[in-house]
Amino acid sequence: MKPEKRLYWNQDWEFTKRWNQGTEKLELAGEEGCLVEFPHSNAELPYHYFDESEYSFISGYRKKFTADLAWEGKEVLMTIEAAAHVIEVFLNGEKLGRHEGGYTAYTLSLTEGLRLGQENELILQVDSREELNIPPFGNVIDYMTYGGVYRNVYLEIKEKIWIADVYARATPMEQETEGLYRGRVESTITLGNGEIGDIPEGYTIRQKLTDGLNGETTQKVAARENELELMASGIRLWAVETPCLYRLRTTLYCSDILMDERETVIGFRTAEFKADGFYLNGIKIKIRGLNRHQSYPYVGYAMPEGMQAEDVLILKRELKVNAVRTSHYPQSHAFLDACDRLGLLVFTEIPGWQHIGDEAWKEVALRQTEEMVLQYRNHPSIILWGVRINESQDDDEFYGRTNAIAHRLDPTRPTGGVRFIKKSNLLEDVYTYNDFVHTGKNQGADPKKEVTSDVSKAYLISEYNGHMFPTKPFDDEAHRTEHALRHARVMDAYYGEEDIAGGFGWCMFDYNTHKDFGSGDAICYHGVMDMFRNPKQAAFIYASQAEEEPILEISSAMNIGEYPGGAIGAVYAYTNADAVRVYKNDKFVKEFYPDRKEFPHLPHPPIRMDDFVGELMEKEEGYSKKNAEAIKEVLFAVAKYGQNSLPLSYKLKMLKLMIFQGMTFEDGMRLFYQYIGNWGDTVTTYRFEAVKDGQTVKSMIKEPVTKKVLQAIPGSRYLHNGNTYEAVSVRLRMTDQNGNLLPYYQEPLKLSVQGPVRLIGPDIISLKGGMGGTYLRTTGESGEAVLFIEGNDIESIKIPFTVE
Ligand code: GAL
Repeated sequence: MKPEKRLYWNQDWEFTKRWNQGTEKLELAGEEGCLVEFPHSNAELPYHYFDESEYSFISGYRKKFTADLAWEGKEVLMTIEAAAHVIEVFLNGEKLGRHEGGYTAYTLSLTEGLRLGQENELILQVDSREELNIPPFGNVIDYMTYGGVYRNVYLEIKEKIWIADVYARATPMEQETEGLYRGRVESTITLGNGEIGDIPEGYTIRQKLTDGLNGETTQKVAARENELELMASGIRLWAVETPCLYRLRTTLYCSDILMDERETVIGFRTAEFKADGFYLNGIKIKIRGLNRHQSYPYVGYAMPEGMQAEDVLILKRELKVNAVRTSHYPQSHAFLDACDRLGLLVFTEIPGWQHIGDEAWKEVALRQTEEMVLQYRNHPSIILWGVRINESQDDDEFYGRTNAIAHRLDPTRPTGGVRFIKKSNLLEDVYTYNDFVHTGKNQGADPKKEVTSDVSKAYLISEYNGHMFPTKPFDDEAHRTEHALRHARVMDAYYGEEDIAGGFGWCMFDYNTHKDFGSGDAICYHGVMDMFRNPKQAAFIYASQAEEEPILEISSAMNIGEYPGGAIGAVYAYTNADAVRVYKNDKFVKEFYPDRKEFPHLPHPPIRMDDFVGELMEKEEGYSKKNAEAIKEVLFAVAKYGQNSLPLSYKLKMLKLMIFQGMTFEDGMRLFYQYIGNWGDTVTTYRFEAVKDGQTVKSMIKEPVTKKVLQAIPGSRYLHNGNTYEAVSVRLRMTDQNGNLLPYYQEPLKLSVQGPVRLIGPDIISLKGGMGGTYLRTTGESGEAVLFIEGNDIESIKIPFTVE
């Protein structure tokens, strides 16, 4: 008999928001229980401006089921992948167990209490109150903590001895031929019969390694030990660009009968933090990452696996970073699996925010450390364990223990622990520090020696920017540009310091937060993307550091009315091209190059463009180069200071032009309007061409808006009902006729659906800063579905989906 796979138990749970507190009777309060599916949020929330206590309560889930007679003599295990934040499980009125901590999985045995062949009642009591004495609670927290059973729940039916865990360490050995290595997999097998140790008499463990790329089996091993070693040849390394994965199949046999099997996805790689930086497979790479919360508008944490993986795609393919920090807790395996698959390095950490609680609280934190390492240590993408409460004070006794746990359960990975204190006690292998020194005009980051307490160990910046410069998509252009430049300045600083392993910007996207933080509307506008994962300008600073495809974004819509006194000042191109050529009404103005003066270390500095007159003054007006330059200088000064506050040196320059070149005041005014102000009836069209190796690789046009075009970007057009419902994002951006975002479009849109899907969130939304989004989810049925989007002043659109 083939051992059964997971039996997903996500459907058909009765839910109540009113748990009968204080009563012995384990019943759902009232009759109002409705049927829900996991992932489930205990409260559906507005986009912003809401009371954070809305999800902070005890709720209950009930499932009635008939226990299969075939379960006789078997072990019935239930895993709740995540319940925020304390869960108690009752089977047929008996309390079976309790799990504290909303970010790690809980597996318990139902075997004892089951009534085989009869109806059973399972109740989950989920305590989502923020007053709980467990991490991350105890003080203020800059993120919402939400509630509910928000990841999968599944059953596994096992024989009386089963494989409870395979801890696999895959190491590349010597190179055999170009790109191919000999590899070693050492595994520790834990059997689920309560005993850890040798495999009992009559049982064997076998392992098989399969190449994830071509399905080839490279080795086989049989043994009676629970420590196994398997050698393979022709192994390809797991790397950021080529994340090669292998499947390790571990089987448990009793004589020749297959009792259990488990598949572990592994990658062969070395990852080392050294005093001078981070090395992957012996090659030094700069970590360029972002922090990610696992939250979404409306449903908080409760989004199915596909949505978790979508964030990895966005980080990797749109933001083009090579690393992510799962601030401030372990995130879904679906997220980590996608990091393994796509090649995104991960720094993951225990739950918490600034506060360390009492002994009971610390005990939970220690268990959470254990659970994090045990549950996540096979992911090749994880390169560092965070074993401190984010930004807490030193506590050597406590952190001595968290470090010891991580090192004991996973000797292959280093520890870090995020602090905001310089030179604090370093019990970890890597000093990980939130460097918020940059205020706009000063250095981007502090040098390592000023921060760490032991320069012989590695140093990594775990956060920067964030609250130093909150930026809304609807902030004015200068603000949005400065936000982008601040990310560039900090990155430039850590690229410039050889001994800084890299950094993680705060943060990937805006997030709902508590009243003590954010802008008063329950949102922290710290993202390089908005809550729906639409890019702000700063997103392009990250994207433009990569090489794979040409990137070009222009910081300005080129509207002088957006700026005080009409002075746009410098405009930036965020690009990985060699240069940007500017054309005004099809006439060449000037070619600009990466700003290596301000950003000497970035792979691709932004290109600063501050002269939109360029050679036009010579070519169009016939002035000599010298006079053209002098006139431009005066005109730029007029734009900057205003005609009446012109500094004396410019007044003198102007006087010289009038006396020696015969220019009149009227001439000056005309040139100003024509070349700087762009007023009048001629339409000004700017074309920006990104040039690489002499070729134009991308271009953008900025001109007055003549048409509004709503762009809807679905995460996928194909949905399927799998282990549970599937959700899909639809990101929305209002653009002009040239595809440029219209950042001040905030009008309402009406959403409706047809077919086997439902909207998650409201059906009337408004774009914010020209951007927004929605989510659809499947209903369990299959067929064709459509999302309709209507607005007052735009052409309606409809997006088809296929649900399988
Ligand atoms: C840090 C903290 C983050 C976030 C950030 C905002 O201090 O670790 O969670 O609050 O500030 O910049």
